[in-house]
Amino acid sequence: DEAELLAGFEATIGHNDRIEPRDWMPEGYRKTLIRQIAQHAHSEIIGMQPEGTWVTRAPSLRRKAILLAKVQDEAGHGLYLYSACETLGVSRDELTRRLIDGSQKYSSIFNYPALSYVDVGTIGWLVDGAAICNQVPLCRTSYGPYGRSMIRICKEESFHQRQGFELLATMMRGTDEQRAMVQESVNRFWWPALMMFGPPDDDSPNSAQSMAWGIKRNTNDELRQRMVDMTVPQADALGVTLPDPSITWNDERGSYDFGAPDWEEFWDVVQGNGPCNKQRIDHRKKAYDDGVWVREAAMAFAAKGTEQ
Ligand code: ACO
Repeated sequence: DEAELLAGFEATIGHNDRIEPRDWMPEGYRKTLIRQIAQHAHSEIIGMQPEGTWVTRAPSLRRKAILLAKVQDEAGHGLYLYSACETLGVSRDELTRRLIDGSQKYSSIFNYPALSYVDVGTIGWLVDGAAICNQVPLCRTSYGPYGRSMIRICKEESFHQRQGFELLATMMRGTDEQRAMVQESVNRFWWPALMMFGPPDDDSPNSAQSMAWGIKRNTNDELRQRMVDMTVPQADALGVTLPDPSITWNDERGSYDFGAPDWEEFWDVVQGNGPCNKQRIDHRKKAYDDGVWVREAAMAFAAKGTEQ
């Protein structure tokens, strides 16, 4: 009976073992996973857009090959994650519809534009850097298919972060104008990158339950702190200034103190009013609509195959 099934589920979670698709799970656990994994998948897919606009304008063949590989990786990440989500009983087609109709979210960060080619480097360094901080602990999430998909995704994210850092380091060895471009780009992306970790813990409605279920392994603020501690020395190595004068080493805590992002801006972007929200969804909808004939042809072909 249900009480017994729940006890079994809780024992599995308690032992830090994994829940697998055919195991019994509470409806709330399933719904939370669908929400988080879908949002994660959508972020990878929408995340191709800001940098994708620079593929045709990359400054050399080498830079173009790197950028193409990176954007293709994001597509792959989206597909692993949609597959992980499908094991919970929801189709990829349905998830895409929920993205387009606005009933499921994607990361706030991808509503900011990539205004110059340098932004490819900054996105790699800061946005993929934040993604790594958030996703490495998710390799140990309690749901098997999600955790396993994270392992390969994290390896690829590390490459993305390195290519961003390398691009910026190259620019920093260039002219004064190039150095100024890097600084301007870092100024624009720093705060939105910190917002990727979600609202502060005391304003995060889902954290407590997701931590209790082992879906999340750390709180939003813990991971944000990890990001700051990882990035400050890298900023020093690059020779850029993070746009937060309150960043100072705190000996007692063994961490950097830092300022608070503008949470009003965060909620405004999440609610659809960021600089590129409309453009991102319109673009995704157009790609989905333009692909109708491909899906219909594939279905017709599959039907023909079963008749023979
Ligand atoms: N952008 C958009 N929405 C966000 C963001 C963000 N940066 N952070 C939080 N939210 C939303 C949450 O989805 C939630 O809304 P919902 O209940 O309607 O789904 C609401 O704000 C409140 O936040 P929390 O209660 O803190 O939500 P949650 O416990 O899900 O934590 C977090 C948010 C940390 C983003 C978590 O879902 C997570 O770790 N997800 C996996 C990682 C991920 O999605 N990464 C995508 C960006 S990285 C990349 O793609 C390169």
